[in-house]
Amino acid sequence: DKNIVILISGTGSNMAAIVRAAQQEDWRQRFGARVAAVVSNKADAKGLAFAREQGIAAAVVDHQRFESRELFDAELARVIDAHRPALVVLAGFMRILTPGFVARYAGRLLNIHPSLLPAFPGLHTHRRALEAGCRFAGTTVHQVTAELDHGPILDQAVVPVLPGDTAETLAARVLTQEHLLYPRAIARLLPRL
Ligand code: GAR
Repeated sequence: DKNIVILISGTGSNMAAIVRAAQQEDWRQRFGARVAAVVSNKADAKGLAFAREQGIAAAVVDHQRFESRELFDAELARVIDAHRPALVVLAGFMRILTPGFVARYAGRLLNIHPSLLPAFPGLHTHRRALEAGCRFAGTTVHQVTAELDHGPILDQAVVPVLPGDTAETLAARVLTQEHLLYPRAIARLLPRL
């Protein structure tokens, strides 16, 4: 099996979109792939309950219990590796990962970032896009490298910025596209893993 492990920090709507696509498009039959586990750095992440309802192993590695990023990442990797992942998917995972962690999963670590990279790496992407006067915004699925929100781009989706948009309305428009983009990008990658 090509096991997929998804890392979340909160709502997990992208994770849920991936889980649903895996079910509806029968990724097990088509690619021999399945979502094996969901791991959160926050115990109260809403997405954990969804994962459990779907019968998917759900785990918490609370970053606050660790004295350094290296120690947190080592425990995170231990929990992930128990599922022998072919692919590790960051889906609203809001921790910066160490170069050692990134190297361990080189070529099989994906992220989704809510901007048209290389514009607006980091936080508050929608507010910054509005402040800059962007007419278009969007989202990017990319391979993770040691540099935050960099790495080879697999796919992007574009949305218009509309008059009267706030960071919240723009975020919602982008999120709708993420739910289509991320499962599609993963499905395209799976045959090559
Ligand atoms: C998504 O919009 C994702 O692109 C963004 O957080 C949201 C998570 O939503 N990720 C980042 O900002 C990563 N730095 P979700 O938990 O409902 O999938």
